[in-house]
Amino acid sequence: MSDHGATVREYDLFTPEALADPDGLLHRVRAESPLAWLPQLDAYLLTRYADVNAALRDKRMDSANMARVLQRLTPAEQEELAPVRRSIEMWMGHTVPADHVRFQQLLKRYFTPAMVDRLRPRVREFTGELLDAVAPKGQMDVVRDLAYPLPANVIAELLGMPVTDREQLQAWSRDILPIFGDGDLQQLRRAQRSMLEMHDYLRLIAAERRRAPREDVLSTFMAAEAEGIVTEDEAVANCVLLLFAGHETTANLIANGLVLLFENPGQLARLRESPGLMPRAVEEMLRCDGPAGVVGRVTTEPVELAGSTVPAGRHVYLALMAANRDPEVFADPDVFDITREGRRHLGFGMGTYYCLGAALARMETDECLRILLERCPELRPAYETPQWLPTAPIGHRLGSLPVTF
Ligand code: HEM
Repeated sequence: MSDHGATVREYDLFTPEALADPDGLLHRVRAESPLAWLPQLDAYLLTRYADVNAALRDKRMDSANMARVLQRLTPAEQEELAPVRRSIEMWMGHTVPADHVRFQQLLKRYFTPAMVDRLRPRVREFTGELLDAVAPKGQMDVVRDLAYPLPANVIAELLGMPVTDREQLQAWSRDILPIFGDGDLQQLRRAQRSMLEMHDYLRLIAAERRRAPREDVLSTFMAAEAEGIVTEDEAVANCVLLLFAGHETTANLIANGLVLLFENPGQLARLRESPGLMPRAVEEMLRCDGPAGVVGRVTTEPVELAGSTVPAGRHVYLALMAANRDPEVFADPDVFDITREGRRHLGFGMGTYYCLGAALARMETDECLRILLERCPELRPAYETPQWLPTAPIGHRLGSLPVTF
């Protein structure tokens, strides 16, 4: 139930028009009702840059568990899926502030720009190997053959997983995805099975790292466990978070970014002429079509948002993708311009929960697209229109991206 005032209009994000053109709908919502109500989700929605930016930094709004689909199940189903829920509640972005700081302290050293730079040669190697594998055919599905396996390899390396297990990790990560969308019961059961298998697998490696530590995230977690700083359950849950957070999002940025380049041949030509523009191109990809469409928050006390008071305990979606196309902040917001200057986009969030892997994701996307353009001067799309799949509650990702080269 909403108890908002008359100035807050209601919107349906799930009409065929909204699913086909989420940016179009969000432009309308931003202009008509900066604080909007989504009855199907029992949640508010913010779309203006200024409001989203302020809400991301607002300590009166806790990070919300994005696995809301689990809360809509019957009591018996909730009971059945309790293990997966309990594990997700231990993920660093979903914990109370004290636990959040504890995990941040432990993990941040793996994601500093210097550490990320040390991984750069490995990212080049992985990209080269993936392209070698498809080179003889002169065609590939960028999603399947490059964008998915690359970040999976990188994050698995960072965590300390053996190379031979990486395909399995990708499959598990895929199975978990429906928990953060609108998965049906069957998908949620599969997600739980895969997550529990992943836990068992991680526990085995954790035991090895306890005996013989290495320079990887799991070893750090095990050292922290020995000091009583984290439990094994927390360590395992947060490794799953890293695998998942570091995988899907980066893969989607690589694929969405390439579609933007195909759709803007002038910009692609410019980038081919001046590869030094790649870091700015990656920022513009994040702004125009960043993989994190929204993040969720819950009000811990009554908060004024976009001029209306939202009571405590309400779910609020912050539409990063709408903020990033706010015409008040970005001139010609729908134009993809790799030389754009000015305000920072919010594609990695902002404030307390700012993306831990931002530097890593930037570097991977930069290297991957740079090498792809260098090695494939004849790169062309092999599709009529991109095959977008809607992602809940709003946004899209590519199921496949066939190209020839
Ligand atoms: C293009 C790729 C990526 C995008 C668009 C992205 C986006 C985001 C966003 C928007 C948040 C903030 C969530 C919130 O405010 O509630 C976030 C948090 C987070 N991201 Fe990323 N992410 C990406 C890649 C990565 C990678 C590569 C990793 C790690 C390997 C990662 C790990 C995390 C973690 C651990 C958090 C939680 C941070 C915290 O709670 O302090 N992300 N990400």
